Amino acid sequence: MTGGSTLIVGSGLIGTATARCLARADRRVTLVSRRPPAVSPGSYGARWAALDATDVRDCRRLLDRLRPERVVLVHGPSDVTWCEANPDEARAAHVAVADTFATLAPDSRIIMISTDNVFDGSSAHNTESASPAPANAYGRAKLAAEQALLAKAPRSVILRVSLVYGHEPADADADKWLNFFAACAHRLRRGEPVEAPDDHWTTPVLLDDVAEVTAALLRCGHPLPPVLHLGGPDRVTRAEWATAVARALGAPAELVKPVPRARTRYASRPANACLASEVLPALPGVGDITVRGVREGARLLAARFTGPEPSA
Ligand SMILES: NC(=O)c1ccc[n+]([C@@H]2O[C@H](COP(=O)([O-])OP(=O)(O)OC[C@H]3O[C@@H](n4cnc5c(N)ncnc54)[C@H](OP(=O)(O)O)[C@@H]3O)[C@@H](O)[C@H]2O)c1
Repeated sequence: MTGGSTLIVGSGLIGTATARCLARADRRVTLVSRRPPAVSPGSYGARWAALDATDVRDCRRLLDRLRPERVVLVHGPSDVTWCEANPDEARAAHVAVADTFATLAPDSRIIMISTDNVFDGSSAHNTESASPAPANAYGRAKLAAEQALLAKAPRSVILRVSLVYGHEPADADADKWLNFFAACAHRLRRGEPVEAPDDHWTTPVLLDDVAEVTAALLRCGHPLPPVLHLGGPDRVTRAEWATAVARALGAPAELVKPVPRARTRYASRPANACLASEVLPALPGVGDITVRGVREGARLLAARFTGPEPSA
C-alpha cells in the first residue's frame, strides 16, 4: 500500500480483522472506537485511539491529526435485535457517522461495510442491480447511511457483506453476542444442543476473506463502482451451516435442532440474507481473491475451537 495512512472506525469483529490484514503490509493503521478493543492493536502493529464517531468535533480533530488517505467505516450498532428495539438511535448513529466522514474526508477512499439487510429477503440472490427495500430497522439505518455517504463522498465504496464468521473466544464478553459460527462451535464442543433455523438462508463469508477483499479495494488505484456485494459461494440455511460446523468439529450432527426462524432471535431478519456479485469477480486485484465456502471455512476454523477453552 503506498502513501498515507488508514483509519478504521470501529474495532470489533470486522474492524480488528481488517486492521490485522492491513498492518501486515503497512504500519500506519489506526483503529478507533469508544472503548479499547479486546485485543491490543499494538500486538499486531496497528494503533488504537478513543473516539465517539458520532461526535463531529472529535472526528474533525482526529482527521486533522491523522489525515488518512483511506477510511474504513465498520462501526456499530451492529446488533440487529438491538436496532429493532432502538430504531431511531440506530439510524441516527449510522447516518451521523457516514455524513461526518463524507463531509470531513470527501477525498479519502472511504469504504463502508454494509449488509444484506438492505434487502427484504424475498429474493434468493441479490446482486448489485437489485433494488434495496429493507424490512427491518437495522437495514433501514444502514441504507440511510449508504445514501448519506455516497451523496457527499462520490469516491466512496459501499461493500455490502453477507453474514460474517470467524473465531471469537467464548469468554470475550458475557454480554456480547458472538457471530453465529463461534456461538455454534462453542456450544457444540461443550456437547450442548444448537437451535438453528431451517428457513433462514444466508451466504456466509469468512472474516479473513472480508478483510482481504476490503484491503484489496483500498489498494485499488482505479475508480470503483459505488456499491459492491460480497457473499460466500454457498447458500445455506443456518441449520445446514450449523451441521457443517458440527461435522468439522467432530461433534454429533444430532445436536443441531432445526427450528422455524420465527421462533428465534432471527425473526426480524430477511428470510434470504444472501448476496451475490456481478461486479467483484471482474475487478482487477480483487476478483482473484478466493472467497471460501462454509465447509472449507469450518475446516479452517475448527482447530481454533478445539483447544482448551479458557474458564469464564
Ligand atoms: N458482522 C457481520 O456479520 C456484518 C455483516 C455485514 C455488515 N456488517 C457491518 O459491519 C460493521 C461492523 O460489524 P462488526 O461485526 O465488526 O461489529 P462489532 O463487532 O459490533 O463492532 C462494532 C465496533 O463499532 C464500535 N462503535 C460503535 N459505536 C461507535 C461510535 N459511536 N464511535 C466509534 N466506534 C463505535 C464498537 O466499539 P465501542 O462500542 O467501544 O465504541 C465496536 O468496536 C457494522 O456496521 C455492521 O453493520 C457486519
